[in-house]
Amino acid sequence: MTSAKKPLLAALGGEAVWPPPFWLMRQAGRYLPEYREVRAQAGDFIALCTAPKLAAEVTLQPLRRYGMDAAILFSDILMVPWAMGQGLRFAEGEGPRLDPVQDAKAIAGLKLGQVVEKSAPIMETVSRVAAGLKKDHPNTALIGFCGAPFTVACYMVDGKGGGEFPMTRRLAYGDPAAFGALIDTLAEASRLYLLEQVKAGAEALMIFDSWAGMLPPSQFRRWVIEPTARLVRALRRDLPPGFPLIGFPRLAGPLLTEYAETVGVQAVGMDTGMDPVWAAKHVPAEVALQGNLDPQALVAGGPALIEQAESIMAAMKGRPFIFNLGHGIVPPTPPEHVAALAERLKRG
Ligand code: CP3
Repeated sequence: MTSAKKPLLAALGGEAVWPPPFWLMRQAGRYLPEYREVRAQAGDFIALCTAPKLAAEVTLQPLRRYGMDAAILFSDILMVPWAMGQGLRFAEGEGPRLDPVQDAKAIAGLKLGQVVEKSAPIMETVSRVAAGLKKDHPNTALIGFCGAPFTVACYMVDGKGGGEFPMTRRLAYGDPAAFGALIDTLAEASRLYLLEQVKAGAEALMIFDSWAGMLPPSQFRRWVIEPTARLVRALRRDLPPGFPLIGFPRLAGPLLTEYAETVGVQAVGMDTGMDPVWAAKHVPAEVALQGNLDPQALVAGGPALIEQAESIMAAMKGRPFIFNLGHGIVPPTPPEHVAALAERLKRG
């Protein structure tokens, strides 16, 4: 039996859709010349995220080339701290820089009350994309997103990326009450921000926890699983039953099982290092899996790319699955390699 639903939503509803629906993390971005053109027109990255017409345009660009099963809102996880008044800039070639929030006083100064108003332009992007899909890509679903409280806190406390986030980890151990207040503030901001996206037309939501797996197990439970589970429970009070949610606790390793069993999402993302054969065995069958091609295989292209994609598909056949990368697409990716991948996936 085939479902009348969009393929992505059918997979999120627990169906083993084949060929698997696919989309790619960071599918709108610098590897596409048409993105670079719009980005130059917007000036800086925050200006692009808050210019609904341009942000909607770049959201739709990859679909025109490759016909993905999902569009993901073009914005950034750091737009939530920005909306709460934290200083944010994206320095060319350096990544994000934030004015660090490192103690109870700074955390108490975050302006939760302005999140909805400041994110209004992003919601207009969501509505524009929803209208664009309805018109030109009727089988493509719109994914909204936020960063998970822990990952967003990493950037807020350390003030920049880098992958270690020493200030954040020390704050979590040294002043768990203050860090907990930050996590709670972020969970509430994310709840408001995600519900606005659903009102504007998002059909699924993804929670990116890119740095979750940096934590030891007890901290992973306290700062990743528990706050995300609370966020999901709070969201569900206002969402239709079974509304599709995707969690991505990157680098979780074997804790992916506990995350999938506890958090209450319909799907979990597998990062590049996750063995899909292991995940198929250790994640409950009703939770869809999403992932996990190495973004560098997509840069390399050729037989290695196709072999990697086929081995992931072989492990996932017969269970609800969404093909994706194990992390975001990288700027040197040749667009024709994405076309070769899309063509292979469509054959199932
Ligand atoms: O196509 C999409 O996936 C939608 C848009 C999207 C962006 N960022 C656009 C973006 C999404 C879903 C994100 C999520 C995001 N942002 C995450 C979680 C996923 C992950 O990759 O781990 C994180 C950790 C961020 C924070 C962030 N934003 C960093 C570290 C950087 C700099 C790194 C880089 O690639 O430059 C950004 C900037 C950013 N976000 C860009 C894009 C397209 C590049 C900015 C530019 O055009 O100059």
